[in-house]
Order: sequence, then structure tokens, then C-alpha cells
Amino acid sequence: MKKILDFITEKMQKAFEDAGYDASFGRVTVSNRPDLCEYQCNGALAAAKQYKCAPIQIANAVVQHLNAEDYSMIEAVMPGFINLKLSARFLQTYLEEMRTAEDFGVEKIGAGKTVVVDYGGANVAKPLHIGHLRPAIIGEALKRLHKFLGYNTIGDVHLGDWGLQMGLIIAELQERQPSLPYFDPEFTGDYPEAAPFTVDELEEIYPTASAKKADPEFSHKAHQATFELQQGRRGYRALWQHIMNVSVTDLKKNYDNLNVHFEKWLGESDADPYIPAMVADMKAKGVAVLSEGAWVIPVTEEGDKNELPPCILIKSDGSSIYATTDLATMVQRMQDWKPDKMLYVTDKRQNLHFEQVFRAAKKSGIVTADTQLEHIGHGTMNGADGKPFKTRDGGVLRLETLISDMTDFVRAKVVENRIVPEEDVEATTQKIAMGALKYGDLSNQPTKDYNFDMERFAAFEGNTGPYILYTIVRVKSILAKYGAWEQLPIQEATSEPAKELMLSITKFAPSMESALKASAPNLICAYIYELAGAVNKFYHETRILGESDETLKAGYIALIALAKNILETCIDILGFSAPEKM
Ligand code: ARG
Repeated sequence: MKKILDFITEKMQKAFEDAGYDASFGRVTVSNRPDLCEYQCNGALAAAKQYKCAPIQIANAVVQHLNAEDYSMIEAVMPGFINLKLSARFLQTYLEEMRTAEDFGVEKIGAGKTVVVDYGGANVAKPLHIGHLRPAIIGEALKRLHKFLGYNTIGDVHLGDWGLQMGLIIAELQERQPSLPYFDPEFTGDYPEAAPFTVDELEEIYPTASAKKADPEFSHKAHQATFELQQGRRGYRALWQHIMNVSVTDLKKNYDNLNVHFEKWLGESDADPYIPAMVADMKAKGVAVLSEGAWVIPVTEEGDKNELPPCILIKSDGSSIYATTDLATMVQRMQDWKPDKMLYVTDKRQNLHFEQVFRAAKKSGIVTADTQLEHIGHGTMNGADGKPFKTRDGGVLRLETLISDMTDFVRAKVVENRIVPEEDVEATTQKIAMGALKYGDLSNQPTKDYNFDMERFAAFEGNTGPYILYTIVRVKSILAKYGAWEQLPIQEATSEPAKELMLSITKFAPSMESALKASAPNLICAYIYELAGAVNKFYHETRILGESDETLKAGYIALIALAKNILETCIDILGFSAPEKM
């Protein structure tokens, strides 16, 4: 379905042409003076220069050729603006088409295309902490948005499962339980099926080991273990598999709690087999060059303000690094999935890393010149006071704790205000808490830092998740009282609030498209905040169920039902859902 602005623009272009002027002057925009009109066209001003006549003359001629039925107001005003208001009929037809079309008629701009969204950022053996909130929920929203707009989408968590943290754990375990068969190079039997640790132990082992990095002897052991693991030492690979199993099970549980789901649970280790051939190819092509014993890819380009440091591929000790696995991962993705687009969601402190990797990937031909590579570097979530988020003892807060704090806070409200019967308290609480948390985050521009303010995020009023949910629940309850509403057609607006709501609904498709193009879920939030506002205004100024004219009433119901369906679609894209009652 055409976006409404394109639709009106086409009509305007035709009018310019019919009046004898070039069609390209007929561009229509949303009015910047909503008090005067809904849409405007300033093309006559530009056309006047070309046709050497007064703009108002052109505007007057053009409006003669507009179809009067489409507008409730057409005005040519000095010096040559064309101001428009849509007719009730036009809007009704447009919205009825939206209502009956699949997914409200959005154009599937991603049809036939594949996007990989690399998000989450989890590292094996380390519990998720609050720094993992943003990449998980921004990534999930962007993935769902792409899917909604027709892309074939693949979300990949890209686990950190291959680095020094693995060697640290192995070295620490060896000190604690040296007699385990994993450490015996002579051992040829089958290793035990059960892991020699639980997830809680693992989460204690890693930080303990990490704290010992300063000890040169221990650090050497850890590096050696990492190296041998990567070389394929049997016992270490078996131990690594245990670490993976225990940790990934726990990570999945935590991501599930956030309603974040990955299609692929691949990691740095899966990229490893692609490294040798990739590096050989880069050397052969001369893309990788030797510099102080290391193999690097120079990535500075003409026009750079500052020289970009080269992308290091192989360090002088022969080991590969973060950039190497990211490049090898692209090789795998191109081979297996041929994506048109790869999106990476991480902390913005990794901006340079991705700039280097993207340039190196293009330069070496891992991706094609038209593969879209995009890094969404998100800002930091700070405490309510604007300072870095810390636990009372100065540590990093676990993501689980943050979620349960928010849930407890919301539960207290739900119970205190007796919002639902006791048996529904938990389910309702979960939904509101998730909405509060996710909307609180996603309504910010991804690149900006923001403050985590539980009270503000969980408020039922203002630009919050619960406010959006409340609006949806309010409509749901009206619909339930009305009865069968699903087939009711949209009618012409009979009031200003109805028309405003209808205009707001027409902005659905353009808002989704803008959010996708800018990789900005905050634009979806801004849209639903506006739409929810229009719904509530309509609700307050209209007797809906109390209307005695059944035809009118049915029209009101159809309108709020459409708005509700759109709101629910939007929050589903954002990764949360509405309770039945609130
Ligand atoms: N595990 C990494 C970290 O903790 C994030 C991974 C992001 N994705 C990527 N392809 N590099 O920083």
C-alpha cells in the first residue's frame, strides 16, 4: 500500500502536470502549521522561478486540477503555498484499506533480502550484567522491525567463547582440581559427561581467576591454556564444552526472561576454522601486510580527518584477536547466508573496532561493495542520578537483579492499587515490568546515554511503557464490552479528535520505515506515544459505548480497534506485550 504522503504527492504532481507545469514541483509535506492545514505543497514557489511568473498564479492554476472530493479544504495562499486538509471520505477509504490489508498495508521493503543482526554481546562463563541490557533489547527490536518489513532475519548472539577468559577458567580449575582427567595429557579415555562445576561455581571461578591476572605465573598459565585450547588440546576442548553447556543454558534462560531470542548461538569459536584460509587469502592479495612482526590491514582512506590505526589481523606472537574473529565470522555469514545487510549492536566504545573491521572486510572482498554494514554503537545506561550504575558495594549489577528490582517495584504497585485479582498479579506484573524496562530504554536514541529511573519508567502516565500498555488495555476493555468488533468497517470521521486519530494512524508505515532506515527504535516509541495520545483524546471527548446511534457507535469501535491493533503490533516489534487488565 502506498504511504499516504506519496499518495497525495502523486495527486499533486498530476495536478501540476495538468496545469501545464513540471510534475516534479508537486511534492507534498506534512504541514508545519497544523493550525492552518494538514498538508502543504510549496512547489509553486520554486516553479515560479522556472516559469517566470508569480507563484500564486501557478498555485491557483494547480488547485483547479485537484480532485475536490479528496479534500475538505484546498487553498492557494500568498505568496504561493497550497494548503490542504483531507476529506473525511479520503481518510476513511485509506484507513479501511489499511484495516483490511495484511500488516496494515506496510510496504515490505525488505522482501527478498536477508539481514544478520549481531547483538546481545554475551560472553561465556560471565553472568549478564546491566551493560548487556541495551544491546539485547535494541538488537531484538531492530531484528523484529526488519522482519516486519519483509526481511529474512537472522539474529546471532556471537558469543565471546574463545578468548582469554577460557584459559583463565581452565588454569583456575587446574589449581583447584589438578587430578581431573582434563589436565592429564596422557589420558585417552572418555571424559566424564557431567561438568565438574555448576553454573554458580562457574560464575565464581571466572572472577576469581580474572583477579589473578596480575600474577605473572598464573597469567602465563592462562595464556598457555588459551593457546593450547585453540590448538585443539583434547582435554581442554572437553572442558571448554562443559563450560559452554553450563553457561549457554544459563544465558538462554536469562535472555528468555527478557523475551530476547536468537536464531543462532554461534560464537567466536565457530569463526576459528575460517581464519587460516582467510588470512592466507589476505596475504596473497596483499591486503594484509607485515608490520613490526604483526599482520595488519591498513584501513585509512582518503578524506579521513584522523588517520585510522590499521586493523590487526595476526599479532606478532601468532595469535588472532577480536577483529580476526569478526572478519572470519563475516566469511562464514557470507558463505552460509549471503546477507544483504549486517547490523551490529554493541556499546559505542567499540566504534573504532567496527570501523576498522568494516573497512578491512570491504577491502579484502569478504563482503561485496554493496553489502550494508552498520554498527549501532549504543550509549550507557546510568543510574537515576546520572552516575555510572553500581551496586551498593561498588560492583557491577547483574541484569537479573535489575529485572527483579523493576518487577518488585511494579508488583508492589499492582498489589497496592488492586489492579487485578490475586491470581493475575504475577502475569500482569511481568508484562508491565517488561514494558517499563524496554520502553524506558528504547524510547531513547540508541547512541545517547540515559538514566535508569525506575519510578519514572514504571509510571502509568507520561511517555512510558505502562502508559502505552494502559491505553491498549483501555481499548481492549471497551471492545470486550461492545462485543464482536473484528469485522466493523472504518467510517468517516465525525469530529476533530476522530480525524486527528485517523491522521495519526496513517503515519504508521512511514514511522516504521524511518525507524528501520535510521536503525532507531526510538522512532517507533515516538510514534506510539503520539498515537496513544490521539486515542486517549478521542476517548475523553467521545461517548463511545454510550452513543445511542448504533451506526456511529460501530464506527467509533472500528476506529479504536484499528488503533489498538497498530499499538499492539508496535509493542510486539519492541519486544513486549500488553496484559488483559491493568
Ligand atoms: N562479546 C563482545 C563483548 O563483550 C561483544 C560481541 C559483539 N559482536 C561482535 N561481532 N563483535 O564486547
